[in-house]
Amino acid sequence: MRIDLEELKNKIKPKLRPIIWRDEDNTLILLDQRKLPFEEVYVELRDPVSTADAIKQMIVRGAPAIGITAAYGMVLAVAHSNVSSLEEALNELSKARNVLNAARPTAQNLFWATNRMYNKAEQLIHNGYVKSIKELVDELKAEARAIFDEEFEAELKMGVYGLEKISDGDTILTQCNAGGLATGTGIGTATAPVRVAHALGIRVSVIAPETRPWLQGARLTVYELMADGIPVTLITDTAVGYVMYKGMVSSVMVGADRILRDGHVYNKIGTFKEAVIAHELGIPFYAIAPSSTFDLKSTVNDVKIEERDPDEVRKIRGVPITLEGVRVFNPVFDVTPPKYVTALITEKGIIYPPFEKNVPKVLGVE
Ligand code: MRU
Repeated sequence: MRIDLEELKNKIKPKLRPIIWRDEDNTLILLDQRKLPFEEVYVELRDPVSTADAIKQMIVRGAPAIGITAAYGMVLAVAHSNVSSLEEALNELSKARNVLNAARPTAQNLFWATNRMYNKAEQLIHNGYVKSIKELVDELKAEARAIFDEEFEAELKMGVYGLEKISDGDTILTQCNAGGLATGTGIGTATAPVRVAHALGIRVSVIAPETRPWLQGARLTVYELMADGIPVTLITDTAVGYVMYKGMVSSVMVGADRILRDGHVYNKIGTFKEAVIAHELGIPFYAIAPSSTFDLKSTVNDVKIEERDPDEVRKIRGVPITLEGVRVFNPVFDVTPPKYVTALITEKGIIYPPFEKNVPKVLGVE
């Protein structure tokens, strides 16, 4: 099917605006995702330290959304500072990058975005392309906006590529929330092919595991798909194997926090289990992510899987569900080895094994 991207933009009009930049007073406004789906509350930020804290506290989450937020956090580092020279501004940006990068360890988009912002500033300053702090701030705002716009375009393209993997009547199993809230654009990565199919009148539905402990599936995926009239069924995390065994799943589509050159996929805890069961039952498993999620330098041994507060497991939304003193292990991502990955869907195209050879080839970085 030949699809015109401009036409598609008219058909897919995301209602969600999880990340808003207010230009008049250089303020970053985030939809507080901890409170969804019951309250829509926005938080205003004016400095990189509170922006890093918002990422850490999961006010904003999802790899691409973290990247966009961090890019604006870099803008804030200069926009509200008292620096009097461009060299001082660069120093502030370096400090902000360190603070933002420390917010969460696994999502590649975070480091990608802060590096891009810092490198842009360095190049503008050292080549004499900006002469004042005001000019630098304007350029950095444009760069952060470009990161957002590129993400939006990338998601539409991933949606179109991913459409090749969807037939009328399909049901897609996902994990966590890799939707418009997780990317900041309202479209999403794993949900992009589903949204494109839905917009074109192809019948498609989603099965969303609840995704303990933060319940991104139950709170966020359900919320955004229902808002757009896309059929979604909520299951417990423990029902994943059964729904696949029952033949209820046509394919698995998940997002990613990081993808390595050899095809290892880091994503929300529980993804590995979906991939192994899918492999065993002959169900295709796709990870869908923009090129900014790829880390072509690291190996599995280099990547840190975030472990969060044990109380996230001991309690559900503040209510204890176990004994206070129980020992807890709370890794929030896992890694899926390439042998379980049918294909990686990116804005540059679909990447099939062998990934070591095809990832750099399709991404155009050989
Ligand atoms: O801990 P989170 O909510 O930030 O984890 C999010 C995920 O694991 C998503 O699947 C991933 O970031 C891809 S988002 C499009």
